[in-house]
Amino acid sequence: ERTYDIAVIAGDGIGKEVMPEGIRVLEAATRRYGFTLKQKWHEFANCDYYARHGRMMPENWKEEIGRPAAIFFGAVGWPDIVPDHISLWGSLLQLRREYDQYVNLRPVRLMEGVPCPLAGRKPGDIDFWVVRENTEGEYSSVGGRMFEGTDREMVLQETIMTRKGVDRILKFAFELAQKRPRKLLTSATKSNGIAITMPYWDERVEAMAKAYPDVGWNKFHIDILTANFVLKPQIFDVVVGSNLFGDILSDLGPACTGTIGIAPSGNINPGGEHPSLFEPVHGSAPDIAGKNVANPIGQIWSAAMMLEYLGETEAAAGIMTAVETVLKQPALRTRDLGGSASTQACGKSIADALS
Ligand code: NAD
Ligand code: IPM
Ligand code: MN
Repeated sequence: ERTYDIAVIAGDGIGKEVMPEGIRVLEAATRRYGFTLKQKWHEFANCDYYARHGRMMPENWKEEIGRPAAIFFGAVGWPDIVPDHISLWGSLLQLRREYDQYVNLRPVRLMEGVPCPLAGRKPGDIDFWVVRENTEGEYSSVGGRMFEGTDREMVLQETIMTRKGVDRILKFAFELAQKRPRKLLTSATKSNGIAITMPYWDERVEAMAKAYPDVGWNKFHIDILTANFVLKPQIFDVVVGSNLFGDILSDLGPACTGTIGIAPSGNINPGGEHPSLFEPVHGSAPDIAGKNVANPIGQIWSAAMMLEYLGETEAAAGIMTAVETVLKQPALRTRDLGGSASTQACGKSIADALS
């Protein structure tokens, strides 16, 4: 009897709408593939919790979460109630750091039937992974404000790259590239302008490449790299970037395949010492929240990534087949893909395709 404990955190806005669809599909998968998920829902890490308690998570959140096999996460942020940097640093970013989820793994794939905003591209042309460094880099709280209110007012914020931090994400990316048929790694850099951290990043890429002679590699400055995502997406296989560059590329990539609404991610602690966390790439989308129009596929594909991580490979593949089946039918697509299906209708049709 395969049983897994899952922590569930829905968050804010459309997080609360797409999460039930992710769960609906997971439950269909447990029935079809014969395993059990024990869900523990947490009512923290959302802005309503902040409004009541003055913080995003309870002080003992680690105990509350315990040691689940994985964390299934929606989306956090409601800037009308809590400034984004407060809500995110007090929840998602804290979880990534405290659980040392140093890999943020984000697939970019043009799916059959999904209208591609780039002319002339077909499924197979766009199929790569963004591997994003997830615990250091440009995301830092080191720095401060000085001389506030004077004509010398200034702010300063440091980028932090540690040898351990850079090497471990590069190692993960090279190993992923090694498993892919094309075996090609692309590094996102900006060593022409950002003169200390980025040349260091390049140096570590070059050093790491020596350990993977079977993997081809190249690098692009981030500016032309974004242009090439649009102009030549077919040249990418595994793209590795710092925290900020990886963040930007992992919205741009999915946008090039039709919508950010289907993009999933795994925040992974590769050693398995801490739980890993699976969530859509998108946020809480206040502009469409409460309307039952959000695309639930980012959450559902994240469920598939989670099952893959747990070793339920067949169930993960089953979910992806169900997603593809539904995406091929215009009437079952949500608004971001030109359809008119509701969040729930789309989720239901994927769950039905599984049973
Ligand atoms: P967003 O991803 O929430 O929304 C960007 C745009 O994409 C919006 O127009 C939205 O309607 C659309 N969109 C997003 N997901 C969609 C879906 N599933 N289906 C259809 N359309 C979808 O980004 P934002 O507007 O920059 O941020 C909104 C809030 O979410 C902020 O508080 C931000 O900090 C937070 N955020 C959280 C996460 C996370 O929890 N991982 C990620 C990104 C942003
Ligand atoms: C993401 C999000 C987060 C990030 C925000 C909400 C802090 O954009 O998961 O991509 O920048 O990592
Ligand atoms: Mn992002």
